[in-house]
Amino acid sequence: MKLKSLHDLYIHELQDLHSAETQIKTALPKAIRAARSADLKTALKNHLEVTKVHVDRLDEILKRHGAKREDEKCKGMEGLLAECESMLAQEADDVIFDLGIIASCQRVEHYEISGYGTARAYAEKLGEEADTSLLAETLEEESSADDELTSIATMLQSQCDAGTDDDVETEAADRKPARTKTAREKVTAR
Ligand SMILES: [Fe+2]
Ligand SMILES: [Fe+2]
Repeated sequence: MKLKSLHDLYIHELQDLHSAETQIKTALPKAIRAARSADLKTALKNHLEVTKVHVDRLDEILKRHGAKREDEKCKGMEGLLAECESMLAQEADDVIFDLGIIASCQRVEHYEISGYGTARAYAEKLGEEADTSLLAETLEEESSADDELTSIATMLQSQCDAGTDDDVETEAADRKPARTKTAREKVTAR
């Protein structure tokens, strides 16, 4: 279908977001079951509930414009969720494993933030006030989910071993090649 106007592009963006959110709704329960820390489990559970509301809001907006859901899958989200899935299959200690889940989930959040930022801007330009406020609410919720993941990650990072203890540093120093003379030293030595 040819996109003839900003309104057509706006609907196309909403349909893409609808597909992205639906895929997230299906994928989140697996990440919730896999998460090891109680804080991360709770944050993801809360975000699943919020995600269901996001799907409903998009349904409401699309209905208002007489547009149907797009059958085509959002491939960007499909790729991000495939990466998340392979992260869940990794073997790792609890803290590192949860940090890996957060890294994947924050990519997802940033993708959504980008999509909703665009959709909200189009809604505003098109004078769609009701849409603008619904999309702004969702955008706000995506940003706070992202912030919450950042604070859990910061807390987890403070618990994990960075793998740079003194022994490792000494070994690294031993492996350093002997310093070669600088050009100035070579000249002075003549
Ligand atoms: Fe969402
Ligand atoms: Fe989200």
